[in-house]
Amino acid sequence: MNDILNELESRRAAARLGGGQARIDAQHARGKLTARERIELLLDEGSFEEWDMFVTHRATEFGMERDRPAGDGVVTGWGTVNGRLTYVFSQDFTVFGGSLSETHAQKICKIMDMAMRNGAPVVGINDSGGARIQEGVASLAGYAEVFQRNVLASGVVPQISLVMGPCAGGAVYSPAMTDFILMVKDTSYMFVTGPEVVRTVTNEVVTAEELGGALTHTRRSSVADAAFDNDVECIAEARRLLDFLPLSNRSGVPRRPFFDDPAREEPSLDTLIPENAGTPYDMRELILKVADEGDLYEIQAEFAKNILTGFIRLEGSTIGVVANQPTHLAGCLDIDASRKAARFVRFCDAFEIPLLTFVDVPGFLPGTAQEYGGIIKHGAKLLFAYAEATVPKVTVITRKAYGGAYDVMASKHLRGDLNYAWPTAEIAVMGAKGAVEILHRAERGDPERIAQRTADYEARFANPFVAAERGFIDEVIRPRNTRRRVARAFAMLRHKKLENPWKKHDNIPL
Ligand code: HXC
Repeated sequence: MNDILNELESRRAAARLGGGQARIDAQHARGKLTARERIELLLDEGSFEEWDMFVTHRATEFGMERDRPAGDGVVTGWGTVNGRLTYVFSQDFTVFGGSLSETHAQKICKIMDMAMRNGAPVVGINDSGGARIQEGVASLAGYAEVFQRNVLASGVVPQISLVMGPCAGGAVYSPAMTDFILMVKDTSYMFVTGPEVVRTVTNEVVTAEELGGALTHTRRSSVADAAFDNDVECIAEARRLLDFLPLSNRSGVPRRPFFDDPAREEPSLDTLIPENAGTPYDMRELILKVADEGDLYEIQAEFAKNILTGFIRLEGSTIGVVANQPTHLAGCLDIDASRKAARFVRFCDAFEIPLLTFVDVPGFLPGTAQEYGGIIKHGAKLLFAYAEATVPKVTVITRKAYGGAYDVMASKHLRGDLNYAWPTAEIAVMGAKGAVEILHRAERGDPERIAQRTADYEARFANPFVAAERGFIDEVIRPRNTRRRVARAFAMLRHKKLENPWKKHDNIPL
Protein backbone atom coordinates (compact mmCIF):
# COMPACT_ATOMS: atom_id res chain seq x y z
CA MET A 1 0.00 0.00 0.00
CA ASN A 2 2.79 2.35 0.90
CA ASP A 3 4.37 1.86 -2.50
CA ILE A 4 1.16 2.82 -4.21
CA LEU A 5 0.79 5.91 -2.05
CA ASN A 6 4.38 6.84 -2.71
CA GLU A 7 3.85 6.49 -6.43
CA LEU A 8 0.80 8.76 -6.23
CA GLU A 9 2.79 11.38 -4.36
CA SER A 10 5.75 11.21 -6.71
CA ARG A 11 3.47 11.47 -9.75
CA ARG A 12 1.74 14.43 -8.17
CA ALA A 13 5.05 16.09 -7.41
CA ALA A 14 6.18 15.63 -11.01
CA ALA A 15 2.92 17.07 -12.33
CA ARG A 16 3.20 20.07 -10.03
CA LEU A 17 6.63 20.81 -11.46
CA GLY A 18 5.12 21.37 -14.93
CA GLY A 19 7.90 22.06 -17.44
CA GLY A 20 10.60 21.93 -14.76
CA GLN A 21 12.33 24.24 -12.31
CA ALA A 22 14.39 26.08 -14.95
CA ARG A 23 11.27 27.14 -16.84
CA ILE A 24 9.51 28.07 -13.58
CA ASP A 25 12.49 30.28 -12.74
CA ALA A 26 12.28 31.87 -16.21
CA GLN A 27 8.58 32.55 -15.66
CA HIS A 28 9.35 34.22 -12.32
CA ALA A 29 12.22 36.21 -13.86
CA ARG A 30 9.70 37.80 -16.20
CA GLY A 31 7.62 38.91 -13.24
CA LYS A 32 4.98 36.27 -13.96
CA LEU A 33 3.54 33.73 -11.55
CA THR A 34 3.13 30.08 -12.50
CA ALA A 35 -0.21 28.55 -13.42
CA ARG A 36 -0.57 26.99 -9.97
CA GLU A 37 0.51 30.07 -8.06
CA ARG A 38 -2.16 32.02 -9.91
CA ILE A 39 -4.85 29.52 -8.96
CA GLU A 40 -3.72 29.60 -5.34
CA LEU A 41 -4.17 33.38 -5.29
CA LEU A 42 -7.49 33.28 -7.11
CA LEU A 43 -9.23 30.70 -4.95
CA ASP A 44 -9.84 30.63 -1.21
CA GLU A 45 -7.00 29.01 0.63
CA GLY A 46 -7.12 25.22 0.48
CA SER A 47 -10.27 25.17 -1.66
CA PHE A 48 -8.76 24.07 -4.97
CA GLU A 49 -9.71 20.62 -6.21
CA GLU A 50 -7.66 19.69 -9.22
CA TRP A 51 -8.87 17.47 -12.05
CA ASP A 52 -7.00 15.71 -14.83
CA MET A 53 -3.61 16.20 -13.26
CA PHE A 54 -2.31 13.10 -15.01
CA VAL A 55 -3.68 13.75 -18.48
CA THR A 56 -1.00 13.62 -21.15
CA HIS A 57 -1.09 14.42 -24.84
CA ARG A 58 -1.28 11.63 -27.39
CA ALA A 59 0.82 13.19 -30.15
CA THR A 60 3.58 11.15 -31.76
CA GLU A 61 4.99 13.50 -34.42
CA PHE A 62 8.23 15.43 -33.92
CA GLY A 63 9.38 13.07 -31.15
CA MET A 64 6.49 14.15 -28.96
CA GLU A 65 5.97 10.61 -27.69
CA ARG A 66 9.17 11.03 -25.65
CA ASP A 67 7.93 14.19 -23.92
CA ARG A 68 4.60 13.72 -22.22
CA PRO A 69 4.42 15.91 -19.13
CA ALA A 70 1.53 15.21 -16.76
CA GLY A 71 -1.24 17.79 -17.02
CA ASP A 72 -0.40 18.78 -20.61
CA GLY A 73 0.13 22.47 -20.03
CA VAL A 74 -3.08 23.43 -18.27
CA VAL A 75 -4.16 23.16 -14.64
CA THR A 76 -7.92 22.73 -14.23
CA GLY A 77 -10.42 22.27 -11.42
CA TRP A 78 -12.70 24.13 -9.08
CA GLY A 79 -12.68 25.89 -5.76
CA THR A 80 -14.31 28.84 -4.07
CA VAL A 81 -13.89 32.62 -4.16
CA ASN A 82 -15.07 34.07 -0.88
CA GLY A 83 -16.98 30.85 -0.35
CA ARG A 84 -18.70 30.83 -3.77
CA LEU A 85 -18.16 28.05 -6.32
CA THR A 86 -15.81 28.92 -9.21
CA TYR A 87 -14.32 26.80 -11.98
CA VAL A 88 -10.87 27.61 -13.25
CA PHE A 89 -8.34 26.67 -15.89
CA SER A 90 -4.84 28.07 -15.88
CA GLN A 91 -2.46 27.56 -18.79
CA ASP A 92 1.05 26.55 -17.82
CA PHE A 93 3.57 28.40 -19.96
CA THR A 94 6.36 26.14 -18.67
CA VAL A 95 4.87 23.18 -20.60
CA PHE A 96 5.24 23.66 -24.37
CA GLY A 97 4.66 27.37 -23.87
CA GLY A 98 1.16 26.70 -22.56
CA SER A 99 0.22 25.77 -26.12
CA LEU A 100 -3.15 24.16 -26.68
CA SER A 101 -3.24 20.52 -27.73
CA GLU A 102 -6.21 18.23 -28.24
CA THR A 103 -6.05 16.94 -24.66
CA HIS A 104 -5.33 20.40 -23.20
CA ALA A 105 -8.54 21.55 -24.89
CA GLN A 106 -10.45 18.54 -23.54
CA LYS A 107 -9.45 19.51 -20.01
CA ILE A 108 -10.76 23.03 -20.52
CA CYS A 109 -13.99 21.74 -22.08
CA LYS A 110 -14.57 19.42 -19.11
CA ILE A 111 -14.42 22.42 -16.76
CA MET A 112 -16.75 24.45 -18.93
CA ASP A 113 -19.31 21.65 -19.27
CA MET A 114 -19.30 21.18 -15.51
CA ALA A 115 -19.68 24.92 -14.92
CA MET A 116 -22.70 25.04 -17.22
CA ARG A 117 -24.35 22.05 -15.56
CA ASN A 118 -23.77 23.32 -12.05
CA GLY A 119 -24.25 27.03 -12.64
CA ALA A 120 -21.02 28.70 -11.61
CA PRO A 121 -18.54 31.07 -13.27
CA VAL A 122 -15.49 30.03 -15.27
CA VAL A 123 -12.24 31.90 -14.86
CA GLY A 124 -9.73 31.20 -17.64
CA ILE A 125 -6.13 32.20 -17.05
CA ASN A 126 -4.48 32.55 -20.46
CA ASP A 127 -0.72 32.26 -20.92
CA SER A 128 -0.09 30.39 -24.14
CA GLY A 129 1.81 30.24 -27.41
CA GLY A 130 -1.46 29.30 -29.14
CA ALA A 131 -2.18 26.15 -31.07
CA ARG A 132 0.34 23.35 -30.33
CA ILE A 133 2.28 23.38 -33.54
CA GLN A 134 3.22 19.68 -33.36
CA GLU A 135 -0.45 18.68 -33.27
CA GLY A 136 -1.63 20.63 -36.28
CA VAL A 137 -5.32 20.46 -37.02
CA ALA A 138 -6.08 18.47 -33.85
CA SER A 139 -5.21 21.54 -31.83
CA LEU A 140 -7.29 23.79 -34.08
CA ALA A 141 -10.19 21.44 -33.47
CA GLY A 142 -9.53 21.77 -29.75
CA TYR A 143 -9.77 25.53 -29.97
CA ALA A 144 -13.05 25.33 -31.83
CA GLU A 145 -14.46 23.02 -29.13
CA VAL A 146 -13.59 25.67 -26.56
CA PHE A 147 -15.08 28.46 -28.71
CA GLN A 148 -18.32 26.53 -29.07
CA ARG A 149 -18.59 26.19 -25.31
CA ASN A 150 -17.79 29.88 -24.78
CA VAL A 151 -20.80 30.70 -26.93
CA LEU A 152 -23.14 28.22 -25.28
CA ALA A 153 -22.05 29.40 -21.83
CA SER A 154 -22.51 33.08 -22.75
CA GLY A 155 -25.42 34.41 -20.74
CA VAL A 156 -25.61 31.20 -18.68
CA VAL A 157 -22.57 31.52 -16.42
CA PRO A 158 -20.20 34.48 -16.12
CA GLN A 159 -16.93 33.91 -17.97
CA ILE A 160 -13.86 35.89 -17.00
CA SER A 161 -10.56 35.81 -18.89
CA LEU A 162 -7.33 36.80 -17.24
CA VAL A 163 -4.75 37.36 -19.96
CA MET A 164 -1.39 36.91 -18.27
CA GLY A 165 0.99 36.18 -21.09
CA PRO A 166 0.92 35.79 -24.85
CA CYS A 167 -2.44 35.21 -26.48
CA ALA A 168 -2.13 35.18 -30.25
CA GLY A 169 -3.75 33.99 -33.43
CA GLY A 170 -7.23 32.57 -33.29
CA ALA A 171 -6.61 31.90 -29.61
CA VAL A 172 -7.71 35.45 -28.82
CA TYR A 173 -11.23 34.55 -29.79
CA SER A 174 -11.91 32.46 -26.73
CA PRO A 175 -11.26 35.38 -24.35
CA ALA A 176 -13.05 37.68 -26.80
CA MET A 177 -16.24 35.70 -26.34
CA THR A 178 -16.10 35.80 -22.56
CA ASP A 179 -17.74 38.53 -20.48
CA PHE A 180 -14.70 40.28 -19.07
CA ILE A 181 -11.02 40.40 -19.99
CA LEU A 182 -8.46 41.57 -17.44
CA MET A 183 -4.85 42.03 -18.57
CA VAL A 184 -1.48 42.62 -16.95
CA LYS A 185 0.66 45.54 -18.13
CA ASP A 186 3.94 44.68 -19.88
CA THR A 187 3.61 40.89 -19.67
CA SER A 188 0.43 40.13 -21.57
CA TYR A 189 -0.63 40.77 -25.13
CA MET A 190 -3.39 39.79 -27.50
CA PHE A 191 -3.37 39.98 -31.30
CA VAL A 192 -4.69 38.07 -34.26
CA THR A 193 -1.37 38.39 -36.08
CA GLY A 194 1.89 39.31 -34.36
CA PRO A 195 4.32 42.15 -35.16
CA GLU A 196 6.33 40.01 -37.63
CA VAL A 197 3.32 39.24 -39.79
CA VAL A 198 2.14 42.83 -39.55
CA ARG A 199 5.50 44.04 -40.85
CA THR A 200 5.46 41.58 -43.75
CA VAL A 201 1.91 42.28 -44.83
CA THR A 202 1.43 45.99 -44.16
CA ASN A 203 4.99 47.31 -43.72
CA GLU A 204 4.00 48.69 -40.33
CA VAL A 205 6.67 48.47 -37.66
CA VAL A 206 5.10 47.98 -34.26
CA THR A 207 6.09 46.34 -31.00
CA ALA A 208 4.05 43.55 -29.41
CA GLU A 209 3.18 45.93 -26.60
CA GLU A 210 1.95 48.66 -28.95
CA LEU A 211 0.06 46.18 -31.09
CA GLY A 212 -1.70 44.22 -28.40
CA GLY A 213 -0.53 45.19 -24.92
CA ALA A 214 -2.78 45.92 -21.97
CA LEU A 215 -2.86 49.67 -22.54
CA THR A 216 -3.70 49.26 -26.22
CA HIS A 217 -6.64 47.04 -25.39
CA THR A 218 -8.01 49.03 -22.47
CA ARG A 219 -7.62 52.50 -24.05
CA ARG A 220 -7.86 52.10 -27.81
CA SER A 221 -9.47 48.87 -28.94
CA SER A 222 -11.68 48.25 -25.88
CA VAL A 223 -11.03 44.52 -26.26
CA ALA A 224 -10.03 44.36 -22.58
CA ASP A 225 -11.88 45.73 -19.56
CA ALA A 226 -9.03 46.58 -17.22
CA ALA A 227 -5.23 46.52 -16.96
CA PHE A 228 -3.20 45.90 -13.82
CA ASP A 229 0.43 46.30 -12.83
CA ASN A 230 1.12 42.66 -12.02
CA ASP A 231 -0.38 39.19 -11.67
CA VAL A 232 -1.16 39.60 -7.96
CA GLU A 233 -3.16 42.79 -8.46
CA CYS A 234 -4.96 41.36 -11.49
CA ILE A 235 -6.05 38.25 -9.58
CA ALA A 236 -7.13 40.26 -6.53
CA GLU A 237 -9.33 42.39 -8.81
CA ALA A 238 -10.76 39.28 -10.47
CA ARG A 239 -11.84 38.09 -7.02
CA ARG A 240 -13.42 41.47 -6.33
CA LEU A 241 -15.28 41.33 -9.64
CA LEU A 242 -16.54 37.79 -8.93
CA ASP A 243 -17.94 39.04 -5.61
CA PHE A 244 -20.34 41.27 -7.53
CA LEU A 245 -21.48 38.67 -10.06
CA PRO A 246 -24.26 36.11 -9.83
CA LEU A 247 -23.11 32.49 -10.08
CA SER A 248 -25.36 31.98 -13.09
CA ASN A 249 -28.33 33.42 -14.96
CA ARG A 250 -30.68 31.55 -12.60
CA SER A 251 -29.03 32.22 -9.27
CA GLY A 252 -30.03 35.87 -8.76
CA VAL A 253 -27.58 38.50 -7.60
CA PRO A 254 -25.41 37.81 -4.58
CA ARG A 255 -26.63 39.41 -1.35
CA ARG A 256 -24.28 40.09 1.46
CA PRO A 257 -24.45 41.81 4.82
CA PHE A 258 -24.24 45.59 4.56
CA PHE A 259 -23.27 48.17 7.11
CA ASP A 260 -24.36 51.30 5.31
CA ASP A 261 -27.75 52.86 6.13
CA PRO A 262 -29.92 52.67 2.98
CA ALA A 263 -31.60 55.90 4.10
CA ARG A 264 -28.28 57.73 4.43
CA GLU A 265 -28.70 61.37 3.35
CA GLU A 266 -26.00 63.10 1.36
CA PRO A 267 -26.56 66.87 1.77
CA SER A 268 -23.56 67.60 -0.46
CA LEU A 269 -25.50 66.23 -3.44
CA ASP A 270 -27.87 69.20 -3.24
CA THR A 271 -25.03 71.35 -4.57
CA LEU A 272 -23.39 68.84 -6.92
CA ILE A 273 -24.85 70.47 -10.03
CA PRO A 274 -22.99 73.71 -10.84
CA GLU A 275 -24.91 76.97 -11.30
CA ASN A 276 -23.84 77.20 -14.92
CA ALA A 277 -25.36 74.44 -17.05
CA GLY A 278 -22.19 74.26 -19.15
CA THR A 279 -19.90 73.51 -16.20
CA PRO A 280 -18.96 69.86 -15.77
CA TYR A 281 -19.02 67.91 -12.50
CA ASP A 282 -17.84 64.42 -11.68
CA MET A 283 -20.65 61.89 -11.97
CA ARG A 284 -18.45 59.39 -10.14
CA GLU A 285 -19.00 61.41 -6.97
CA LEU A 286 -22.74 60.78 -7.18
CA ILE A 287 -22.27 57.05 -7.79
CA LEU A 288 -19.87 56.69 -4.85
CA LYS A 289 -22.25 58.57 -2.56
CA VAL A 290 -25.19 56.40 -3.53
CA ALA A 291 -23.35 53.03 -3.38
CA ASP A 292 -23.08 50.90 -0.25
CA GLU A 293 -19.78 51.78 1.42
CA GLY A 294 -18.81 53.88 -1.62
CA ASP A 295 -17.75 50.71 -3.42
CA LEU A 296 -17.78 50.83 -7.24
CA TYR A 297 -16.24 48.20 -9.55
CA GLU A 298 -15.77 50.07 -12.79
CA ILE A 299 -15.77 48.26 -16.14
CA GLN A 300 -13.71 49.78 -18.98
CA ALA A 301 -12.74 52.78 -16.88
CA GLU A 302 -10.09 53.83 -19.41
CA PHE A 303 -12.29 53.67 -22.50
CA ALA A 304 -15.10 56.02 -23.62
CA LYS A 305 -14.83 58.01 -20.43
CA ASN A 306 -17.96 59.96 -21.38
CA ILE A 307 -19.97 57.06 -20.00
CA LEU A 308 -19.36 55.20 -16.74
CA THR A 309 -20.27 51.54 -16.33
CA GLY A 310 -19.78 49.39 -13.27
CA PHE A 311 -21.18 47.47 -10.36
CA ILE A 312 -22.24 48.78 -6.96
CA ARG A 313 -24.33 47.32 -4.15
CA LEU A 314 -27.51 48.68 -2.61
CA GLU A 315 -28.67 47.03 0.60
CA GLY A 316 -26.00 44.42 -0.08
CA SER A 317 -27.29 43.43 -3.54
CA THR A 318 -25.47 43.98 -6.82
CA ILE A 319 -26.71 46.74 -9.11
CA GLY A 320 -25.29 47.63 -12.55
CA VAL A 321 -24.74 51.36 -12.99
CA VAL A 322 -24.60 53.27 -16.25
CA ALA A 323 -23.98 57.03 -16.05
CA ASN A 324 -23.14 59.82 -18.46
CA GLN A 325 -19.94 61.54 -17.35
CA PRO A 326 -20.07 65.32 -17.94
CA THR A 327 -16.31 65.69 -17.41
CA HIS A 328 -15.64 64.01 -20.79
CA LEU A 329 -17.18 65.27 -24.04
CA ALA A 330 -19.85 66.86 -21.82
CA GLY A 331 -21.27 63.35 -21.36
CA CYS A 332 -22.31 63.06 -25.03
CA LEU A 333 -23.17 59.66 -26.45
CA ASP A 334 -20.77 58.67 -29.22
CA ILE A 335 -19.93 55.39 -30.94
CA ASP A 336 -17.54 54.16 -28.26
CA ALA A 337 -19.80 55.11 -25.35
CA SER A 338 -22.82 53.49 -26.97
CA ARG A 339 -21.00 50.21 -27.60
CA LYS A 340 -19.45 50.16 -24.14
CA ALA A 341 -22.73 50.78 -22.34
CA ALA A 342 -24.78 48.50 -24.60
CA ARG A 343 -22.58 45.52 -23.85
CA PHE A 344 -22.72 46.27 -20.14
CA VAL A 345 -26.52 46.61 -20.14
CA ARG A 346 -26.85 43.29 -21.98
CA PHE A 347 -24.54 41.56 -19.50
CA CYS A 348 -26.65 42.85 -16.61
CA ASP A 349 -29.90 41.83 -18.25
CA ALA A 350 -28.58 38.36 -19.10
CA PHE A 351 -27.65 37.76 -15.47
CA GLU A 352 -30.66 39.47 -13.86
CA ILE A 353 -28.64 42.33 -12.42
CA PRO A 354 -30.91 45.39 -11.92
CA LEU A 355 -29.89 48.57 -13.73
CA LEU A 356 -29.46 52.04 -12.27
CA THR A 357 -28.98 54.82 -14.84
CA PHE A 358 -27.81 58.35 -14.06
CA VAL A 359 -28.53 60.73 -16.90
CA ASP A 360 -26.81 63.97 -17.84
CA VAL A 361 -26.60 63.83 -21.61
CA PRO A 362 -26.63 66.73 -24.08
CA GLY A 363 -27.28 64.35 -27.00
CA PHE A 364 -25.38 62.29 -29.54
CA LEU A 365 -21.99 63.64 -30.60
CA PRO A 366 -22.31 65.41 -33.96
CA GLY A 367 -19.80 65.22 -36.81
CA THR A 368 -18.66 63.35 -39.90
CA ALA A 369 -16.38 61.04 -37.89
CA GLN A 370 -19.38 59.81 -35.95
CA GLU A 371 -21.75 59.55 -38.92
CA TYR A 372 -19.20 57.81 -41.16
CA GLY A 373 -18.32 55.53 -38.28
CA GLY A 374 -21.94 54.45 -38.02
CA ILE A 375 -23.20 56.22 -34.91
CA ILE A 376 -26.71 55.40 -36.08
CA LYS A 377 -26.06 51.69 -35.83
CA HIS A 378 -23.87 51.89 -32.72
CA GLY A 379 -26.20 54.26 -30.89
CA ALA A 380 -29.01 51.86 -31.75
CA LYS A 381 -27.17 49.15 -29.82
CA LEU A 382 -27.63 51.02 -26.58
CA LEU A 383 -31.24 51.85 -27.39
CA PHE A 384 -31.85 48.21 -28.24
CA ALA A 385 -30.11 46.95 -25.11
CA TYR A 386 -32.12 49.17 -22.78
CA ALA A 387 -35.38 48.48 -24.59
CA GLU A 388 -35.04 44.69 -24.47
CA ALA A 389 -33.85 44.60 -20.84
CA THR A 390 -36.44 43.17 -18.48
CA VAL A 391 -34.50 43.59 -15.23
CA PRO A 392 -35.59 46.30 -12.76
CA LYS A 393 -34.61 49.66 -14.24
CA VAL A 394 -34.35 52.81 -12.15
CA THR A 395 -33.29 56.08 -13.75
CA VAL A 396 -32.28 59.41 -12.24
CA ILE A 397 -31.93 62.48 -14.47
CA THR A 398 -29.57 64.91 -12.76
CA ARG A 399 -29.31 67.59 -15.41
CA LYS A 400 -29.54 67.39 -19.20
CA ALA A 401 -31.67 64.81 -20.95
CA TYR A 402 -31.88 66.10 -24.49
CA GLY A 403 -33.27 64.68 -27.67
CA GLY A 404 -32.86 61.05 -28.71
CA ALA A 405 -30.37 60.55 -25.92
CA TYR A 406 -33.18 61.21 -23.41
CA ASP A 407 -35.16 58.37 -24.95
CA VAL A 408 -32.15 56.04 -25.05
CA MET A 409 -30.99 56.43 -21.45
CA ALA A 410 -33.51 54.07 -19.83
CA SER A 411 -36.41 56.47 -20.26
CA LYS A 412 -39.93 55.67 -19.08
CA HIS A 413 -40.83 54.85 -22.67
CA LEU A 414 -38.27 52.00 -22.74
CA ARG A 415 -39.98 50.36 -19.80
CA GLY A 416 -38.07 52.25 -17.13
CA ASP A 417 -39.73 51.14 -13.87
CA LEU A 418 -39.01 54.23 -11.84
CA ASN A 419 -37.79 57.42 -13.44
CA TYR A 420 -36.71 60.14 -11.08
CA ALA A 421 -35.39 63.59 -11.81
CA TRP A 422 -33.54 66.08 -9.70
CA PRO A 423 -35.03 69.62 -9.67
CA THR A 424 -32.02 70.63 -11.79
CA ALA A 425 -33.10 68.34 -14.64
CA GLU A 426 -33.64 69.78 -18.11
CA ILE A 427 -35.67 67.43 -20.26
CA ALA A 428 -36.15 68.78 -23.75
CA VAL A 429 -35.60 68.17 -27.43
CA MET A 430 -32.42 70.22 -27.26
CA GLY A 431 -30.65 72.96 -25.28
CA ALA A 432 -32.14 76.46 -25.20
CA LYS A 433 -29.51 78.06 -27.45
CA GLY A 434 -29.89 75.54 -30.26
CA ALA A 435 -33.66 75.55 -30.02
CA VAL A 436 -33.94 79.35 -30.21
CA GLU A 437 -31.57 79.51 -33.18
CA ILE A 438 -33.79 77.13 -35.11
CA LEU A 439 -37.17 78.48 -34.04
CA HIS A 440 -36.28 82.16 -34.37
CA ARG A 441 -33.72 82.20 -37.16
CA ALA A 442 -35.03 85.52 -38.47
CA GLU A 443 -34.14 87.25 -35.19
CA ARG A 444 -30.50 86.17 -35.23
CA GLY A 445 -29.27 89.74 -35.77
CA ASP A 446 -31.00 90.95 -32.60
CA PRO A 447 -29.00 89.67 -29.60
CA GLU A 448 -31.37 91.17 -27.06
CA ARG A 449 -34.38 89.48 -28.58
CA ILE A 450 -32.48 86.16 -28.83
CA ALA A 451 -31.47 86.47 -25.17
CA GLN A 452 -35.09 87.02 -24.23
CA ARG A 453 -36.22 84.05 -26.34
CA THR A 454 -33.53 81.88 -24.77
CA ALA A 455 -34.60 82.87 -21.26
CA ASP A 456 -38.22 82.13 -22.17
CA TYR A 457 -37.30 78.70 -23.55
CA GLU A 458 -35.26 77.88 -20.45
CA ALA A 459 -38.08 78.91 -18.17
CA ARG A 460 -40.54 76.82 -20.14
CA PHE A 461 -38.49 73.70 -20.90
CA ALA A 462 -35.26 73.56 -18.87
CA ASN A 463 -36.87 71.79 -15.94
CA PRO A 464 -38.20 68.37 -14.98
CA PHE A 465 -41.81 69.46 -14.55
CA VAL A 466 -43.02 69.34 -18.14
CA ALA A 467 -42.06 65.65 -18.22
CA ALA A 468 -43.37 65.12 -14.68
CA GLU A 469 -46.74 66.62 -15.65
CA ARG A 470 -47.06 63.90 -18.26
CA GLY A 471 -45.95 61.12 -15.90
CA PHE A 472 -42.74 60.50 -17.86
CA ILE A 473 -40.96 61.29 -14.61
CA ASP A 474 -42.46 59.49 -11.63
CA GLU A 475 -41.16 61.93 -9.05
CA VAL A 476 -38.88 64.92 -8.72
CA ILE A 477 -36.58 64.09 -5.82
CA ARG A 478 -34.19 65.98 -3.57
CA PRO A 479 -30.62 65.11 -4.59
CA ARG A 480 -29.62 64.43 -0.97
CA ASN A 481 -32.21 61.63 -0.78
CA THR A 482 -31.10 59.82 -3.93
CA ARG A 483 -29.64 56.80 -2.14
CA ARG A 484 -32.78 56.24 -0.11
CA ARG A 485 -35.14 56.71 -3.03
CA VAL A 486 -33.17 54.45 -5.33
CA ALA A 487 -32.61 51.73 -2.71
CA ARG A 488 -36.34 51.70 -1.89
CA ALA A 489 -37.18 51.55 -5.59
CA PHE A 490 -35.03 48.46 -6.13
CA ALA A 491 -36.42 46.85 -2.99
CA MET A 492 -39.93 47.42 -4.34
CA LEU A 493 -38.92 45.91 -7.70
CA ARG A 494 -37.27 42.81 -6.23
CA HIS A 495 -39.95 40.45 -7.56
CA LYS A 496 -40.54 42.18 -10.86
CA LYS A 497 -41.79 39.90 -13.63
CA LEU A 498 -41.58 40.97 -17.25
CA GLU A 499 -41.05 38.82 -20.31
CA ASN A 500 -40.32 39.68 -23.91
CA PRO A 501 -42.29 37.94 -26.67
CA TRP A 502 -40.97 34.49 -27.64
CA LYS A 503 -38.36 34.57 -30.37
CA LYS A 504 -35.39 32.46 -31.40
CA HIS A 505 -33.19 35.45 -30.74
CA ASP A 506 -33.35 39.12 -31.55
CA ASN A 507 -31.41 40.90 -34.26
CA ILE A 508 -29.55 43.62 -32.37
CA PRO A 509 -27.78 45.95 -34.84
CA LEU A 510 -24.26 44.52 -34.64
C1 HXC B 1 4.37 24.29 -29.33
C2 HXC B 1 5.37 26.09 -28.36
C3 HXC B 1 4.45 26.95 -28.96
C4 HXC B 1 3.45 26.38 -29.80
C5 HXC B 1 5.76 28.14 -27.79
N1 HXC B 1 6.18 26.87 -27.65
N2 HXC B 1 4.72 28.22 -28.60
N3 HXC B 1 5.33 24.76 -28.54
N4 HXC B 1 3.45 25.04 -29.95
N5 HXC B 1 2.52 27.13 -30.39
C6 HXC B 1 7.27 26.39 -26.83
C7 HXC B 1 8.63 26.79 -27.37
O1 HXC B 1 9.07 25.85 -28.29
C8 HXC B 1 9.47 26.78 -26.10
O2 HXC B 1 9.81 25.44 -25.78
C9 HXC B 1 8.51 27.24 -25.05
O3 HXC B 1 7.21 27.02 -25.57
C10 HXC B 1 8.66 28.71 -24.74
O4 HXC B 1 8.66 29.45 -25.95
P1 HXC B 1 9.74 30.56 -26.27
O5 HXC B 1 9.61 30.88 -27.69
O6 HXC B 1 11.08 30.14 -25.76
O7 HXC B 1 9.22 31.72 -25.34
P2 HXC B 1 9.13 33.26 -25.66
O8 HXC B 1 10.43 33.77 -26.20
O9 HXC B 1 8.61 33.88 -24.43
O10 HXC B 1 8.05 33.44 -26.79
C11 HXC B 1 6.73 33.06 -26.54
C12 HXC B 1 5.92 33.13 -27.82
C13 HXC B 1 6.65 32.30 -28.92
C14 HXC B 1 5.77 34.58 -28.26
C15 HXC B 1 4.55 32.56 -27.52
O11 HXC B 1 6.96 31.01 -28.39
C16 HXC B 1 5.84 32.13 -30.14
O12 HXC B 1 5.77 33.02 -30.98
N6 HXC B 1 5.27 30.93 -30.29
C17 HXC B 1 4.53 30.58 -31.47
C18 HXC B 1 3.25 31.34 -31.50
C19 HXC B 1 2.41 30.89 -32.63
O13 HXC B 1 2.65 31.23 -33.80
N7 HXC B 1 1.42 30.05 -32.31
C20 HXC B 1 0.51 29.56 -33.25
C21 HXC B 1 -0.50 30.68 -33.43
S1 HXC B 1 -1.75 30.22 -34.47
P3 HXC B 1 11.13 25.07 -24.98
O14 HXC B 1 11.15 23.59 -24.98
O15 HXC B 1 12.27 25.70 -25.73
O16 HXC B 1 10.96 25.64 -23.61
C22 HXC B 1 -2.88 29.73 -33.42
C23 HXC B 1 -4.07 29.30 -34.11
C24 HXC B 1 -5.19 29.18 -33.16
O17 HXC B 1 -2.77 29.72 -32.28
C25 HXC B 1 -6.36 28.97 -34.02
C26 HXC B 1 -7.60 28.93 -33.27
C27 HXC B 1 -8.71 28.99 -34.26
